[in-house]
Amino acid sequence: MTVKLRAVMCGCGGMSNVWLNVIKTLPDVEMVGLVDINEAAARGRAEQFGLAGARVGTDLEKMLGEVKPDVVFAMTVPEAHHGVVLAALAHGCHVLGEKPLADSMAHAREMVTAAAAAGKTYAVIQNRRYDPRIRRVRRFVEGGALGTLTTLNCDFYLAPRFGGFRDRMRHVLLLDMAIHTFDAARYLSGADPAAVYCHEWNPAGSWYDHDASAVAVFEMTGGLVYTYRGSWCAEGLWTTWESDWRLVGTQGSLKWDGGDALAAQTLTGMEGRRAVYQDAAVPPAVADAKSADVKSGGHAGVIAEFLRCVRTCETPETAAADNIKSLAMVFGAIESAETGRKVEIKI
Ligand SMILES: NC(=O)c1ccc[n+]([C@@H]2O[C@H](COP(=O)([O-])OP(=O)(O)OC[C@H]3O[C@@H](n4cnc5c(N)ncnc54)[C@H](O)[C@@H]3O)[C@@H](O)[C@H]2O)c1
Repeated sequence: MTVKLRAVMCGCGGMSNVWLNVIKTLPDVEMVGLVDINEAAARGRAEQFGLAGARVGTDLEKMLGEVKPDVVFAMTVPEAHHGVVLAALAHGCHVLGEKPLADSMAHAREMVTAAAAAGKTYAVIQNRRYDPRIRRVRRFVEGGALGTLTTLNCDFYLAPRFGGFRDRMRHVLLLDMAIHTFDAARYLSGADPAAVYCHEWNPAGSWYDHDASAVAVFEMTGGLVYTYRGSWCAEGLWTTWESDWRLVGTQGSLKWDGGDALAAQTLTGMEGRRAVYQDAAVPPAVADAKSADVKSGGHAGVIAEFLRCVRTCETPETAAADNIKSLAMVFGAIESAETGRKVEIKI
């Protein structure tokens, strides 16, 4: 029988509910500790999920020293990710942390370096790429039917009334949400960011204190251009949370609404100067170990892959050393919006 991995969770707010609902279905992991600076939050989750054997505390260092877990699940507010992850690595733990990896590129680099030095697995929850529908699109692109991708466009238009911290947050759309969309662009294209120009603004009628709309043009490796248009205060005709996409390749194009609707056309030949296209069938989504579950928002896939990689010493798809490239797109876009200049993206 497989020995269970022993886990401590740090941060027991909203997202811990999603995580614990996944973890309770996994036979190979045991929650041995719950930490939150608000002890009532940690205790509440322990009671809710019947974790009678798990310790509850407010001090992560103390918990790690006493419980000596194999893994730490880090889901505090973004400003605390840096301290939590460094502490976990220093105690010899593997770490799976919520997005965004860090609150600055300097912190992110330090965390990635610390994980490499410790020889531990450190991955980030980039759950939306574990949705079977995006994996369906990626599989089709990889199959080569569109030829070489040259252009990637996406629209993200919603108007959620969150209330709370997001209404007061600077760069709310880019910092809190666009990391998912930028990571999806990297996933769909297989390309990495090279440079970005971004314009950010707060449209009339916005209920946010700071800019909640942005347009960004990314130059990606291989000469691909990725454009992002997004708003969190666009009334009516919402897109999906996954964005509305158009992928253009040398041999065809694909449109995907971020949900179940997609269409593709490929070039079949020329009749004189007229190009002839045919509708291309995109094979259905395959539920595999990584993407079996849409309902949990993909958390089930990321968590399962992380635990498997800890056991096998493989590298998870969302390893921090790779995910830092998606984070660099966020901070590059913010720098461009603040300076009004095109920014070279350095990892
Ligand atoms: N993947 C997704 O789809 C998704 C969705 C929402 C939020 N998130 C991310 O999840 C993380 C947590 O978000 P949330 O909605 O649960 O926030 P939350 O505010 O509900 O909970 C955060 C918890 O962390 C605790 N905390 C803060 N600093 C701490 C520290 N130093 N040590 C221990 N506990 C500490 C707080 O007391 C709070 O209980 C954020 O990084 C957020 O961006 C991800």
